[in-house]
Amino acid sequence: MILPIYLYGSQVLRTAAQDADLSDREGLRQFVADMIETMHHADGCGLAAPQVGVSRRILVVDGNDLSDRFPELKGFHREMINPRFTFESETTCSYEEGCLSIPNVDAEISRPEKIRVRYVNLDFEEVEESFEGFAARMIQHEMDHLDGVLFTDHASPIRRKMLTGKLMNISRGNVRTRYRVKTDKK
Ligand code: NI
Repeated sequence: MILPIYLYGSQVLRTAAQDADLSDREGLRQFVADMIETMHHADGCGLAAPQVGVSRRILVVDGNDLSDRFPELKGFHREMINPRFTFESETTCSYEEGCLSIPNVDAEISRPEKIRVRYVNLDFEEVEESFEGFAARMIQHEMDHLDGVLFTDHASPIRRKMLTGKLMNISRGNVRTRYRVKTDKK
């Protein structure tokens, strides 16, 4: 089922998500399937549960659409329940990011180059895995959503200032998207 995506300005995007209840495996599998369908429908490469209005620590990423630019992302996808960083490198790198909750906005964002994450996968096994390059960036962007942080928060002060008007319009729902969106107001 395709779910509406909450836009910038929605309270749920600014709320730290709670751990998901692992006892409801069927419910979690169905919800993750809905998240993946929603992400693909919107041509996104990642989605976090708060973006569909569910304040739980769940994220999905899929790098296939980016594999022209990043060949290593061909076939790359992860579904993570209750993820936590166990390592973030001191070396950082910078790249342009966007977000389905902040349509038609991009900004250059600096993030740790390498990370290690412990999470529960869709087989309900606890896994610890290292990521680097754009895969690490995608996961960090979605992890931020679980803490109520948006990529624009990391943009340079000048860039943030430039985006103020655009962000204001998005929070009022004044934005065109090919996918269904929601704000707190409508
Ligand atoms: Ni996002």
